[in-house]
Amino acid sequence: MAKVTVKDLQERGEIKDKKVLVRVDFNVPVKDGVITNDNRISAALPTIQFIVDNGGKAILFSHLGRVKEEADKAGKSLKPVAARLGELLGKEVTFVPETRGKELEDAIAKMNDGDVLLVENTRFEDIDGKKESKNDPELGKYWASLGDVFVNDAFGTAHRAHASNVGIATHLPSAAGFLMEKEIKFIGEAVDEPKRPFVAILGGAKVSDKIGVIENLIAKADKILIGGGMTYTFYKAKGIEIGNSLVEEDKVELAKEIIEKAGDKLILPVDSITAKEFSNDVPNETHPWDVPAGQLGLDIGPESIALFAQELDGAKTVVWNGPMGVFEMSNYARGTIGVCEAIANLKDATTIIGGGDSAAAAIQLGFADKFTHISTGGGASMELLEGKTLPGLAAISDK
Ligand code: 3PG
Repeated sequence: MAKVTVKDLQERGEIKDKKVLVRVDFNVPVKDGVITNDNRISAALPTIQFIVDNGGKAILFSHLGRVKEEADKAGKSLKPVAARLGELLGKEVTFVPETRGKELEDAIAKMNDGDVLLVENTRFEDIDGKKESKNDPELGKYWASLGDVFVNDAFGTAHRAHASNVGIATHLPSAAGFLMEKEIKFIGEAVDEPKRPFVAILGGAKVSDKIGVIENLIAKADKILIGGGMTYTFYKAKGIEIGNSLVEEDKVELAKEIIEKAGDKLILPVDSITAKEFSNDVPNETHPWDVPAGQLGLDIGPESIALFAQELDGAKTVVWNGPMGVFEMSNYARGTIGVCEAIANLKDATTIIGGGDSAAAAIQLGFADKFTHISTGGGASMELLEGKTLPGLAAISDK
């Protein structure tokens, strides 16, 4: 990796006895004070454990949700995250319910080597002029003054230029954590130097969410398989009947351009599971190509699953982003399950799921351990797939 890593810092003697500021992405779902998915916390453990094992003081920063005004703070404290992190690490994690000031500074001064401290939600600084999210230079400088070195392990936030990632990095020697390194390695290598054949599978509701990814991958992938709700904008562009299916009318022209540009690289579903309503409690039908009037497409059909499995056969790199249908409803989960199975059956392939809905789908459907890498970043993995520079990564010191 062209960036300094946490291992490099350790070899340079910059972890032991040092105050190591660590940006993690603990933006996890919390309901009534209970964390409902702790993947992002588990994913940050190797870096935190490494700092602890090498005698550093780990001072962790994260955001949780979006905060605009005082009332938004309710339910967005990182306190439950500190408790869960303590359980996972098997050691006490000091939680400081402040983002600046004497209480925080005193708590840091009291730390011993190997201790872990979590600072309150960095976005609580957004109430007063969006200081965190607008990368207020004074805030980044203040946070940087609390430590000796900075490790950025928050891949999920790397597409943001905020005070707690980019700001701190401009004032301290900085390094990428193990999670950041792993994410960049898998997603970056898949896109920039894939083993071929390289097949991308793109689903989800809207073409507009995936335009940048499709355009970047047309040049790089050998095949692009399209599923999910955006299928019907492509169908409309080809003059196929779509009934009441979801469509982005203002993207039909763009879909035509993509079809033309991609040629036979672009593979559309050949059948759909349809129903009269967006509901799991109404009868469903299977239709090749045209969706009849009064019906809407909610999943790819069995012929499409077979076609996609055939296109995936022999692939050496697979990147998947976006479910094939409304997988949260059992009647429309088969397309996504079918694609998961086809990917799981590949031999010697590097298989990657961009974060967000497709990661949630693979985990919910029981395929989490069948992929080489499931990204912890939704927006960040999309921007990496689009070929964009991630500011959080760019700000880390070069080797
Ligand atoms: C995410 O969940 O995608 C990241 O934590 C970034 O959160 P944000 O979209 O609120 O900046």
